[in-house]
Amino acid sequence: MADHPTTVPHHLAIVMDGNGRWATQRHLPRIAGHRSGVEALRGCVRRCAELGVKVLTVFAFSSENWNRPIDEVSFLMGLLVRALERETPEFQRAGIRIRFVGERSGLSAQVSEGISVAERLTADNRHLLLNVCFNYGGRWDILQAARRLVGEQAVVTEDSFAAALALSHVPDPDLVIRTGGEMRISNFMLWQAAYAELYFSECLWPDFDTAELERALREYARRERRFGKTSLQVKQPPVTAA
Ligand code: FPP
Repeated sequence: MADHPTTVPHHLAIVMDGNGRWATQRHLPRIAGHRSGVEALRGCVRRCAELGVKVLTVFAFSSENWNRPIDEVSFLMGLLVRALERETPEFQRAGIRIRFVGERSGLSAQVSEGISVAERLTADNRHLLLNVCFNYGGRWDILQAARRLVGEQAVVTEDSFAAALALSHVPDPDLVIRTGGEMRISNFMLWQAAYAELYFSECLWPDFDTAELERALREYARRERRFGKTSLQVKQPPVTAA
């Protein structure tokens, strides 16, 4: 492809926002937006795997989403279970491992079981790791890590703290995309996104197709990542003795 992004993020994270508005614009119930959101996620996972993204982390259900109308929460829980049943065989074929990140207690037995089965069946897949943040919040994660370290009477360093976080199995995200036009982080990867490139798209999540994904990746490829250094230092790293 002529306009193929050249530098692909190793770890891409996405706040999939705008399902409700997408449905409302079409005079449909909000749940129709979530259903279409699953289709957009499907396409995104497939394209990321093709492009060589190694870790994709998506925000599917926040600690605060329990405050939504009960019917919408129930629909999202059922949607997850059905999506896992449908997608797991495809994940197996494509070498995609799925892991859930978030508080497991408080989930129904059916949802917990669906999550455990999908994680177990895909555990040996290595092509792409899909982290689904579910019943997750950045503050929840920081608190659970702090409590764990206090319980273990561990020495608290940046490394030991990072290792106690729920996403310690992956490097920090290189790029965080948020769709839906809002420019905020909304309690997503508060620790891990410290040096991530941020990309905000007006596109509502169900409309976030391959072309939109590649637009974001091309923009990422143009960014200069400095990690606190100067532009000159990044462009001309010091020559070290062999
Ligand atoms: C935000 O849109 C989206 C969510 C809260 C759910 C995201 C879930 C999916 C894309 C489906 C995959 C996940 C599961 C659970 C199978 P919004 O509802 O906040 O949209 P709005 O801002 O327009 O109201």
